[in-house]
Amino acid sequence: MIRNSDTNGTVYHVQGGPMGTLLTIKDFCLWYGRAQALFDVGMGVEKGLVTALIGPSGCGKSTLLRGINRMNDLIDGLRTSGEILLDGTDIYGPDVDVIGLRKVMGMVFQKPNPFPMSIADNVCYPLKVDGVRDKKTLRDTLENALKASALWDEVKDRLQDNALGLSGGQQQRLCIARAIAGDPEVLLMDEPCSALDPVATAKIEDLIDELRGRYTIVIVTHNMQQAARVSDNTAFMYLGKLIEYGETSVIFTNPKVEKTMEYVTGRFG
Ligand SMILES: Nc1ncnc2c1ncn2[C@@H]1O[C@H](COP(=O)(O)OP(=O)(O)OP(=O)(O)O)[C@@H](O)[C@H]1O
Ligand SMILES: [Mg+2]
Repeated sequence: MIRNSDTNGTVYHVQGGPMGTLLTIKDFCLWYGRAQALFDVGMGVEKGLVTALIGPSGCGKSTLLRGINRMNDLIDGLRTSGEILLDGTDIYGPDVDVIGLRKVMGMVFQKPNPFPMSIADNVCYPLKVDGVRDKKTLRDTLENALKASALWDEVKDRLQDNALGLSGGQQQRLCIARAIAGDPEVLLMDEPCSALDPVATAKIEDLIDELRGRYTIVIVTHNMQQAARVSDNTAFMYLGKLIEYGETSVIFTNPKVEKTMEYVTGRFG
C-alpha cells in the first residue's frame, strides 16, 4: 500500500501481518519549536514483523522513532498532534504512564551505550530499577536475554567483567540484551549498525532475524541493503513526510512513487 502524503487522514497498512497491527500512527505531526519536522504521518506497524524507516538525512526518521516511545518529550518546545495508538490506546493520551510506555518499547541507539558496570549488571539493570532482587529471577533473565541476543557463548565466562571491555559489536548486542531483559513488546532501533564493522553488522542482522515474531521491531537504517535484508515492510520518508510504505520487496523493486525509486536506486540521499 502506498501513502501519498498530500492526502491527510489516511493510515496505510501493508498486507501480511499475521498477528495484526500493533501500532497505528495517525495524522502524526511534530514541531521542534516553530519548525515542523513531521507532517501527517499515517501508518500501521505490524506486530511481530520488522519495519524499516528509510530516507535521506534529516527527513525525520529518528524523530518518528522517538515519537513512538515519547523520548522526544524531553525536548523543550516540542509539540505533537495526531495519535500513535498502541493496541488501540493513544500513547499521547492524558492518562498514559510514560515510564511504563518506555518499558514496553526497548530502544537501541546508533552508538552502543553500555553502562560502566559489569556485563551482568548491564543486562539486569531494567529489573534492578524495578526493585527485583530475587537471585534466580535475575540469573534466569540474564541468561535468557544474553542467549536471545546471541551473546551468551561469548560472555558466559566473564559475566562480572566490565561491559566497556567488550568489542563494539558485542556492546551493541549487550544493549539489545538489556532492552530484551526489560521484557518489551517493541524494539526501536536507530541505525544500530552504523558504528559497527561488516562482521558485527552481519551478527546484528542475524539477531534481528531471530527476534522477528517475538518482538515488533522498527529499525532506522541508511543502508539500503540492510533494509532489504532484514525488514518485512519499509517506509520511505522525505522532508518529514511518509512518501511510501509497503512490503519491502515492493518498495525496493517496484515502488509506486518516483521519489521512492530515485532513493532506493541511489539517485539521491
Ligand atoms: N532536538 C531537536 N531540536 C530541533 N530540531 C531537531 C531536533 N532533532 C531533530 N531536529 C530536526 O528535525 C528534522 C528531522 O531530524 P531527524 O533527526 O529526525 O532526521 P533523520 O531522518 O533521523 O536524519 P539522520 O538520517 O541524519 O539521522 C531535521 O531538520 C532536524 O534538524
Ligand atoms: Mg536519525
